[in-house]
Amino acid sequence: MVERVFIVTGAAKGIGFACARRLLEDGNKVVLADINQADGKKALIELASGEERALFVECDVSNKLEVHNLVAETLSAFGRIDGLVNNAGIAVKGGSLDLSVTDFDRVLAVNLRGAFLVSQAVAKYMVDEIESREDRSRLTERPYSIINMSSINDTVALPDYLAYTVSKGGLLQMTRSMALELAPYGIRVNAVGPGSVKTDMLSGVAGDALEKIHSRTPLGRVALPDEIAGVVSFLAGEDSSYITGQCIYVDGGRLALNYTMPPRAPTEGI
Ligand code: NAI
Repeated sequence: MVERVFIVTGAAKGIGFACARRLLEDGNKVVLADINQADGKKALIELASGEERALFVECDVSNKLEVHNLVAETLSAFGRIDGLVNNAGIAVKGGSLDLSVTDFDRVLAVNLRGAFLVSQAVAKYMVDEIESREDRSRLTERPYSIINMSSINDTVALPDYLAYTVSKGGLLQMTRSMALELAPYGIRVNAVGPGSVKTDMLSGVAGDALEKIHSRTPLGRVALPDEIAGVVSFLAGEDSSYITGQCIYVDGGRLALNYTMPPRAPTEGI
């Protein structure tokens, strides 16, 4: 069987790194894209030292030229693109009264415009590829999949992370809009909505509020990056062939929590 090729953005660490590792374990080739060259190169060595199944490309997803370079380098190395995980993201603190316009723009530029730019470049490649086929009835031969790393904050708001919350709300609607647009080509577009995941971003955002997060999470703990990567693997593969336009929330029950349920006592561990 031909190996499928996936691009994962923000793959140098955290959730993106776990997704890249899982997609490689699943037998795919993976391009790790990240703005952080040092961490990206380290990640590549850790994941695929001496192998030719992975590649690191330095890329700021908010920069259109760098995104085009990412797609070009992927095609030059592996000759095809079958899937994309739009995972790169940043969170900057600030609400409507104190967030600077610069910070608002910066968060939206990475989390929303970045995901748009990479999706657009990859989707154009996929559509061109499909349209060049003689037999359009065999659409499912190359099952293309685009996956956006959203958040429970696409639905429930953080008052002190306004731009982040807005960006994830936008990403959810972009997922749905692109899913409808690309469905006629058999290209599936979905999102994953994590609750709280043990990464550097969570340490920065949650600070000492971890106990509060545990108490509002029915499973009583935060997730490990691999628990998000498993759902990405599912959405990337054939077992999810009839799922498009959806967001799968991986939140330990957080969105289902009703105020009639007593708060959960903090647990040791993760
Ligand atoms: P992280 O901060 O640990 O890793 C983010 C990666 O993205 C880093 O390697 C960073 O260099 C890269 N990156 C940042 N800006 C970039 C840019 N302009 N271009 C390319 N790469 C860039 O973050 P984490 O926690 O792994 O988050 C990954 C995604 O998951 C983000 O979209 C985040 O919003 C989302 N998420 C995370 C949650 C958590 O609790 N950690 C919860 C819900 C969603």
